[in-house]
Amino acid sequence: MALLPIYLYGSDVLKKKAPRMTVVTDDDITLIQDMLETMHEANGIGLAATQVGVLKQLLVVDISGADDDSAPNPIAIINPEIIEDDGESEMEEGCLSIPDIRETVTRPQLIKLRYHDASMKVKVLEADGLLARVIQHEMDHLNGVLFVDHLSAAKRTFLRNRLRKISKGDIDIDYEFVVEKKKHRR
Ligand code: NI
Repeated sequence: MALLPIYLYGSDVLKKKAPRMTVVTDDDITLIQDMLETMHEANGIGLAATQVGVLKQLLVVDISGADDDSAPNPIAIINPEIIEDDGESEMEEGCLSIPDIRETVTRPQLIKLRYHDASMKVKVLEADGLLARVIQHEMDHLNGVLFVDHLSAAKRTFLRNRLRKISKGDIDIDYEFVVEKKKHRR
């Protein structure tokens, strides 16, 4: 297994929509293991493939450190689709790609999710609370959306300087990271 560098805010890959997976190869199984190890090492509870620079509809979640023993942990989720949602909750979110920034985001409280597991079997999962929250946050990543995109324009303006520093890699964190921007032709 290997630790992977985490792509930070400002990286081009974080704005892209990841395509669905049709097969799970041995390399993908290794990727899942590496993502779990990378996430644990960085003290995260969720990680999307796009955050390690891989454009695939794949995310991992492990909230066993938080107090929710009803959730399956850890879990790899492929091609997730929300087929039902209910309620509304406000919760503070952070993101390994946006270190040291935490803000409150409103999302559905409950979700019913259809996805493929690592054997490409179709599964349905009903999630509530923190699990529902993490899954929705990570699913956003697979669609090129970050939690700061849910904030008001005023809030984003307030965070602008801190976000700019992150996008320059000017940040002190204890996991490996990369900022990779598209090279524009002049
Ligand atoms: Ni995130």
